[in-house]
Amino acid sequence: MRSKIVAGNWKMNKTYGETKKFVNELKDAVKGLKLKNTRMIIAPPFTNLQKASKKTKDTRIEVAAQNMHQAESGAYTGEISASMIKSVHVKTVILGHSERREYFGETNELLAQKVDTALKNDLEIIFCFGEVLEDRKDENHFKVVEEQIRKALFHLTSDQWKKIILAYEPVWAIGTGETASPEQAQEMHAFIRELVAERYISDVSENVSILYGGSVKPANAKEIFSQEDVDGGLIGGAALNAEDFTALIKAI
Ligand code: 13P
Repeated sequence: MRSKIVAGNWKMNKTYGETKKFVNELKDAVKGLKLKNTRMIIAPPFTNLQKASKKTKDTRIEVAAQNMHQAESGAYTGEISASMIKSVHVKTVILGHSERREYFGETNELLAQKVDTALKNDLEIIFCFGEVLEDRKDENHFKVVEEQIRKALFHLTSDQWKKIILAYEPVWAIGTGETASPEQAQEMHAFIRELVAERYISDVSENVSILYGGSVKPANAKEIFSQEDVDGGLIGGAALNAEDFTALIKAI
């Protein structure tokens, strides 16, 4: 059975002190929640990963990194490697976020390398992809999403897919307040699952969690999360506040 997941991508937000405060609040808020098959993940900036990881030890709250470099180590000033992430007991990394693609020039080819390095280091990946507004207007959104997934992930074995979580984030819905409708999300998620089903054995497509991201808030989460092929959310703005983040967990 695939997991339900609520993941918060903090992006470039929260200092060390703010991270401690958030984690304390979240720990209190989720105490006693019956989570069953549901995972809670927070992705703070690199400087706060170790603190978040230590403070959430022995809880159901998991910690993820927001990015990593494709090389194992070396002369890459300012970059962070997979083994550095692992060394602070973080087991998951977000790759391919549209902001990394847009502002830092990350291509599908580069992301395929990052995916390989992450898996070599036994990290789980939340792999993001999604179309820009022009693609949707031109009705190219399925084609674009298919290419993003094919180029970065379809060289993997079925077994490697156990470490993959997919996150569909239409770029036009990120931080804009404009969410994909539940029907639009379901349509794309079903398309993605079918794409994976055509390439791999059915175990892979049935077990991969597909998250939706883009202006998810407590007010609209329930409707989006209740779609058959939506297994949770990757949340930006609303994940920065422990109360809202808890409401999103309750919504799932
Ligand atoms: P918002 O929830 O702020 O739209 O951001 C979504 C996102 O980019 C998560 O990775």
